[in-house]
Amino acid sequence: MPDIARGLEGINVTATKLCRIDGVKGELVYSGYNIYDLAEHSTFEEVAFLLWNQRLPGKTELAELNGRLVSERGLDDVIARLLGELWPHVRPMRTLEIAVEVLGAIDPQSSDLTQAQLKLTAARLTAKMATVIAAYDRLRNGKQPLSPRDDLGHAANFLYMLTGTEPTDLAKRVFDVALILHAEHEMNASTFSAMVTGSTLSDMYSAIASAIGTLKGPLHGGANEAVYKVLDAIKDEQNIAPYVEALLGRGERVMGIGHRIYKTTDPRAVILERLGNEVAETSPDRWYFDLSLKLRDYLGRKLEGKPLYPNVDFFSASVYRMLGIPSDLYTPIFALARITGWTAHLLEQYADNRLVRPNALYEGAENRQYTPIAQRSAV
Ligand SMILES: CC(C)(COP(=O)(O)OP(=O)(O)OC[C@H]1O[C@@H](n2cnc3c(N)ncnc32)[C@H](O)[C@@H]1OP(=O)(O)O)[C@@H](O)C(=O)NCCC(=O)NCCS
Repeated sequence: MPDIARGLEGINVTATKLCRIDGVKGELVYSGYNIYDLAEHSTFEEVAFLLWNQRLPGKTELAELNGRLVSERGLDDVIARLLGELWPHVRPMRTLEIAVEVLGAIDPQSSDLTQAQLKLTAARLTAKMATVIAAYDRLRNGKQPLSPRDDLGHAANFLYMLTGTEPTDLAKRVFDVALILHAEHEMNASTFSAMVTGSTLSDMYSAIASAIGTLKGPLHGGANEAVYKVLDAIKDEQNIAPYVEALLGRGERVMGIGHRIYKTTDPRAVILERLGNEVAETSPDRWYFDLSLKLRDYLGRKLEGKPLYPNVDFFSASVYRMLGIPSDLYTPIFALARITGWTAHLLEQYADNRLVRPNALYEGAENRQYTPIAQRSAV
């Protein structure tokens, strides 16, 4: 019986200069820079440049990228009207997926797969996807979408467009770091989706729409919203044990726990826990974070001996809640960050393309005689 690599576990599907993960040591490195250093010193815009160019920008290069992102923040009339039609019926992740496809449809350069044009597209998507999500949220709350603020960085401007007020310095920094942490993660399911679509030489917009659809699932990006629902259902420390026992008794999984690669705590969860501690000091919603800590400790005891630890989604739920972000935007926000990693992998893919076309082992019937429909049973 030939081997089947179910879930492609342990298979290298490509080489990359973008990201290295050591799941045993709990290491995450973007193009040579440790995630702890990037979270401490960098900005999301710098990380975007790093992923798209595999080096940090000089001052002029960073100013140019900032200018480009700012200039791409506005939404064309077509997208504005589309959002007006979609928001009453369509959830935010699917709205993002549709908006990206429409952005591709109205971009006359969409089929230009040269590296220079692809980098422009990557910046355009990074800027516009944030505006799409903020505008969607305003519309469904009966408010007019806000024009982007040119004087704010990417993270701060998104929070401003969402809430209508300029975020505090702490909120700006925490959200910026959250975007950095979610920007890239080697060959995860959504990046692979983008790669498969790109490998057919379909355009970057369609590849990103594929990735958004893949990120939506609860085993991938959808886990952060699921963690929020768990915290909301548990509500109080004394409910942790009965809730978890019942969940595991039904054979279900605890969201935000476990990872295909990390067999220790995800370093992104470590950083988000630190940030959570800072935000909790002044947040009226700190009980979500406190409950996360208690749940983490309980699960540590309950799952002892199994390689199951908090992943990036575990603390992002309570951190986003403390920043006042609605829970169904958590996964779209993951996409607003991961767009940089997705597009960086696509730059690599288009530069050295090979169609992704694996095999499947056939185990169905053979040599059947075809019977015309008139001679088959009534059923
Ligand atoms: C992420 C995930 C899909 C990776 O799973 P995987 O590599 O396919 O691991 P497996 O499905 O082989 O699970 C291995 C064992 O751990 C258990 N397990 C894995 N994740 C678990 C979880 N979150 N809660 C409880 N048990 C879990 C499995 O039931 C299995 O147990 P068994 O060997 O007794 O059958 C999985 O950990 C999961 O579903 N986590 C919750 C969703 C989540 O947080 N996703 C975001 C990832 S960043």
